[in-house]
Amino acid sequence: MKKIKISPSILSADFSQLGNEIKRLEEGGADMIHVDVMDGHFVPNLTMGPPIIKALRQHTKLPFDVHLMISPVHKYIKDYADAGADIITIHPEATKDLKSSTEHIKSLNKKVGISLNPETKISLITDLLNEIDLVLIMSVNPGFGGQKFMPEVLEKIKELKEMRDQKNLDFDIEIDGGINFDNNKLAIEAGANILVSGTTIFKNNNGDIKKNIDLLKSS
Ligand code: DX5
Ligand code: ZN
Repeated sequence: MKKIKISPSILSADFSQLGNEIKRLEEGGADMIHVDVMDGHFVPNLTMGPPIIKALRQHTKLPFDVHLMISPVHKYIKDYADAGADIITIHPEATKDLKSSTEHIKSLNKKVGISLNPETKISLITDLLNEIDLVLIMSVNPGFGGQKFMPEVLEKIKELKEMRDQKNLDFDIEIDGGINFDNNKLAIEAGANILVSGTTIFKNNNGDIKKNIDLLKSS
C-alpha cells in the first residue's frame, strides 16, 4: 500500500502571512503544499498566480502540488513550472488537447496530474493512465474551500485503484474537497493515498496544524 500523504491547501491559510503559514505546515508534518490556482473563468473564484508561488518557494523545501483551475491552461503551464511547481495538475475540460498538455508538463520535468470533477468520467483519461503521475479526484465542485464532501466520488477512486492494480501502474490517487476526520477513512479505504485539506487543517482544533495533519493521516 502507498504511504498516506497530506497536501494542505493554502486556500484556507491567512493570505497576509503566507510565508509563515507554509513554515507552520512544514513543521506540522505536511508532505506537500497544495496550491489552488483559480482564474475567475474556469471556476467562479480568483486566487493566486505564478509570482506568488515564486515568492513562496523560498519558504519551504516541500513539493508544491499546484492545482490549476484555469482555462485555457496550456499556454500558462511553463509559467507555473518556472515559478517552482513540482506537480502540475490540470483539468481535461481546460485544454484542447489533453495528451499534448500532459506531455508539455513532462517535458518541463514536472510531475503531471489530471483532475476529475465530480461529474467527469474516468473514461476520459483511461488512455493516459500509464503516462501520468497522479489523478486528482474532486470531491466537491471546484471553486471554493469549505464545501461539503460528495461521497459518490469514492466509487471512482475504487475503480481507479483497480485499474492501477490490473495494469500494474504506479500513479498516485489524490482526493480534494471537504475532507474531514470522518471521511478521511472512507477516502483512504477506497484507495486515495494523498489527501488535500484546507478547512480541516487550518480551522479545526483552534488551528492546531500538527494535530489536524496527524488526525487526517490516522484512519
Ligand atoms: C476546491 C479546491 C480545494 C479546496 C480544499 O476548488 O481545489 O483544494 O479548497 O479545501 P477544503 O478542504 O476546505 O474543502
Ligand atoms: Zn485543489
